[in-house]
Amino acid sequence: MTLRLASAGESHGPGLVAILTGLPAGLALDRDAIDADLRRRQEGYGRSPRQRIEQDRVEVLAGLRHGRTLGTPLALVVWNRDHDNWKWGMSPWPPEGEPAGKGTKPVTLPRPGHADLAGVLKYGHADVRDALERASARHTAVHVAAGSVAKALLATIAIAVSGATVDEPGLQARIDEARADRDTVGGIVEIRATGVPPGLGTYAAKEDRLDGRLAAAVMGIQAVKGVEIGDGFALAGLRGSQAHDEIGPDRRRSTNHAGGLEAGMSNGEEIVVRAAMKPLPTLMKPLASVDLVSGEPGEALVERSDVAAVEALAVVAEAAVAWELAVAARDKFGGDALGDFVAAYRSYVERIQW
Ligand SMILES: Cc1cc2nc3c(=O)[nH]c(=O)nc-3n(C[C@H](O)[C@H](O)[C@H](O)COP(=O)(O)O)c2cc1C
Repeated sequence: MTLRLASAGESHGPGLVAILTGLPAGLALDRDAIDADLRRRQEGYGRSPRQRIEQDRVEVLAGLRHGRTLGTPLALVVWNRDHDNWKWGMSPWPPEGEPAGKGTKPVTLPRPGHADLAGVLKYGHADVRDALERASARHTAVHVAAGSVAKALLATIAIAVSGATVDEPGLQARIDEARADRDTVGGIVEIRATGVPPGLGTYAAKEDRLDGRLAAAVMGIQAVKGVEIGDGFALAGLRGSQAHDEIGPDRRRSTNHAGGLEAGMSNGEEIVVRAAMKPLPTLMKPLASVDLVSGEPGEALVERSDVAAVEALAVVAEAAVAWELAVAARDKFGGDALGDFVAAYRSYVERIQW
């Protein structure tokens, strides 16, 4: 049963939705654990005041009974509390009454670095908001909820995933300085997965390589401009004798330059994925742009925005890695009932004596 995720939701629309199919029946979910991940995503130094409006909590509309999955599509919702301020501007149906609140005036000055220009050209929108609302990273909230479900599944086969910012002395000072200059910053995060047995993913087909799937999942997160696995880019400057992880008599490695992935498969060592986040594109001191209606030069859209979201990215990327590992684990171990899935895992690790 292939694990799949579809999501919908605009930044200031009524809410964010995810439908997860392919989960086994009988998986216990903990609402507090999911909400704790949602809170982690909202925290972090440099976030905008929006995070004080939102207090993300997951709601489940289908697929769960008394805290256990039914093996049917699991429907998750995270409501946007800020939608109250955008009721007219982001009304799904033609709004009634006089324009009121936020989002009533069309945006015509695209921001460099955001979806704005290519988005309106591609979809034929007259208002940049029609592109930016979905491109915004707000909907990563419901992906974090889905990642939390993936982590619960992975925990049944002893896999744990965690993300953190790469230690940078002075990150807060760098954020404070950027804020004072009405500028933004990026940063680097690292995701680690432990307990992954060898053999998730495959070299048999390019699209099923686990390294490729992880890279695509992390690169697919807003503002990520670089992804590396293990020593990544640094490997290019090493010799083979320095770069590869020798195999000991117990089949384990004493180094992990490969970041737990060889030939598109997990190799039994810790999986290590790093992502580089660019500085966020919405600047309080805006860059040059063009008014798409008048054709006149102007300054790009300014709206409430994070100065930095690197700590949030660590949580979002953790969810993305957890999701892809869960997909690979479902592909390998299958099962309609959770017990079938776990039994297949146990039989496999017994066969390979891992
Ligand atoms: C957790 C998170 C929060 C973000 N918050 C903002 C923000 O407040 N302001 C902003 O301009 N961009 C923010 N971004 C980045 C934009 O969504 C992103 O740069 C934009 O959608 C264009 O996509 P690209 O950077 O992948 O090319 C955030 C990204 C993440 C992952």
